[in-house]
Amino acid sequence: MTPLSRRSAPRKRKTFYITTPIYYVNDIPHIGHAYTTIAADVLARYKRLRGYDTFFLTGTDEHGQKVQQAASKKGLDPQTHADRMVVAFKELWKRLTISNNDFVRTTEERHKQVVQQVLRKLQATGVLYTASYEGWYCLPDERFWAADEVVEGKCPDCGRPVERISESNYFFKMSAYRDRLRRHIQQHPEFIQPESRRNEVLGFLDRPLEDLCISRPRARLAWGIPFPFDPDYVTYVWVDALVNYISIPGYGTDPRRFAKWWPADVHLVGKDILTTHAVYWSTLLMALGLDLPKTLFAHGWWTVDGEKMSKSRGNVVDPNAMAEEYGADAFRYFLLREVPFGQDGDFSKTAMTTRYNSELANDLGNLFSRTLTMIERYSGGVVPKSHPKAVKAEDRRMVAVAKSLHRTVGEEMDRFAFHRALREIWTLVDFANRYVEKNAPWDLAKESKNRARLDVVLYHLAETLRSLAVHLFPFMPTTAQRMATELGWSTSLEQALKPQDFQWGRLKPGRPARKGSPLFPRIEPPQRIMVQETAAPATPSKEMVMESTSAATSFISIDEFRKLDLRVGRIVAAEKIMGADKLLKLSVDIGTETRQVVAGIATKYAPDQLIGKSVIVVTNLKPAVIRGIESQGMILAAGDKTVEALATFVEPVESGMRVK
Ligand code: MSP
Repeated sequence: MTPLSRRSAPRKRKTFYITTPIYYVNDIPHIGHAYTTIAADVLARYKRLRGYDTFFLTGTDEHGQKVQQAASKKGLDPQTHADRMVVAFKELWKRLTISNNDFVRTTEERHKQVVQQVLRKLQATGVLYTASYEGWYCLPDERFWAADEVVEGKCPDCGRPVERISESNYFFKMSAYRDRLRRHIQQHPEFIQPESRRNEVLGFLDRPLEDLCISRPRARLAWGIPFPFDPDYVTYVWVDALVNYISIPGYGTDPRRFAKWWPADVHLVGKDILTTHAVYWSTLLMALGLDLPKTLFAHGWWTVDGEKMSKSRGNVVDPNAMAEEYGADAFRYFLLREVPFGQDGDFSKTAMTTRYNSELANDLGNLFSRTLTMIERYSGGVVPKSHPKAVKAEDRRMVAVAKSLHRTVGEEMDRFAFHRALREIWTLVDFANRYVEKNAPWDLAKESKNRARLDVVLYHLAETLRSLAVHLFPFMPTTAQRMATELGWSTSLEQALKPQDFQWGRLKPGRPARKGSPLFPRIEPPQRIMVQETAAPATPSKEMVMESTSAATSFISIDEFRKLDLRVGRIVAAEKIMGADKLLKLSVDIGTETRQVVAGIATKYAPDQLIGKSVIVVTNLKPAVIRGIESQGMILAAGDKTVEALATFVEPVESGMRVK
């Protein structure tokens, strides 16, 4: 081999193996299931885009008491029940554009065989024993609890009554691995994330660790994988389920494939099932002599309109309905943008609509449609050339922002900080919106001497949108594809996206660009609040004053603050409202559109004084109807009961610019 060919020998591609929990088929999927699967999909797509050979696994957990009970309630045998229920999961994943590479069902032969192999191996290693056990058993959770864990006869986890059960079973010597597991967690800070959860697990391991009961007598529960060496028992459903993470990539059946994927890079789980993963799974892997997954990431739980989600409350969020109402991409976006991954969050249609209208329809959608309209109007529908001589510093700044996303988004994705990754992407969206205002292509188009500059501006906008499509692809694949197609760049991102596409300048001039329907048509907010006629948005009402006084005693996080979409608005028209001497009706240009705002400033300002003033507008405030007039935002002013002065700016600023 010559040195040259040695140098050019292909390097092994980096691999990435990611999993979701496998979901019980006792009921149809809800927002919690969708959340983990969407997060895993975004990471899988992102890693593929970065050039990783990626394996993304999800599936269903079909054995055990819960499923057996759900089946018998319907008068079905458990397999028929599972066969029907699994369809709902598979169809939902299709609808949410989930790109899993495999789908495991624990009732499949390929999985059952490996579970039996695992049991044989554990038996041969001498880590199993039988014992008669008497304890408090929680039927829905399918687990025993120690006497001191039971709270007034109820399960400490789900609060339902526990039963006293006595039976002989197989046990796994889990207790023997406590110290090793603790050491592993201490030495690998990335193993359990977020850090608060890691501390919880370490706290759990401070107490003595019990052995794990891994069988169920067939006489009590028949719906499970039979013990290979004892026909009287079936496998405890959690052991059965956890093994999916190794059975599918080939443990015990395909050593080469298994060596390629194991250890998994990340198991994504909800916080409620972290212990089973961090403790049961890790110790089982240790007993099998296998490496532990690199990371277990536990995300938080969603409440709905501030309440716990439950069937009895009737507030279970159906992901299908959300995809129908807002589109799969917007739903994906919202779940990952709204709440830092790892923390609990609240779902509401109001919050969903607000983000949809302000960030997707306004910021991104308008930028895209304006740009394409201008390319059609001023450049004959083809992407123009960028002329180096007409490039200005601000163009270079936008290019720099676009290029920096590769690093900044990457860092946030590596930390599972999806909301911050999206925020980074929006710095480019915001920059581009300001760039449109500042360069006013519609003015440049008026004189032919500006042709070169106009081309540069339009090219930079088109290329910025292409770059946005690349970064957005993992989050919103359908939207990204539409952007790529309409920009005349690529019709098959799924197959064709490459790491090089992160570079600037991939969009070739001369390609036809065609505008389609809006990416995110505006949505009516779910309900309107009627504001008291006397309360004008610019003067705080009694309730608002009370709210702000109580808010003064508690801090809000920077993320809460960022929920406010504050923008520079230019007052373009103002008039009195008949019969309301405190109110003015304003038309305020916020860059992407003109908003009608009703403000209680008439005692301080005459309409004429206000024209041309730049003010601060809260653009994502729920619209309110005041004196029969819709107010689509609020402007900020100083003053308590009466307005003393409008908040404005020291320097001239463009409409639409974000106020932070
Ligand atoms: N079958 C087990 C997992 C076995 S993995 C080897 C299981 N299934 S489950 O269907 O009950 O739940 C799956 C996931 O849904 C869990 O990660 C859980 O955290 C998540 N969620 C259930 N309700 C949720 C919310 N309200 N919010 C967010 N996630 C929630 O457990």
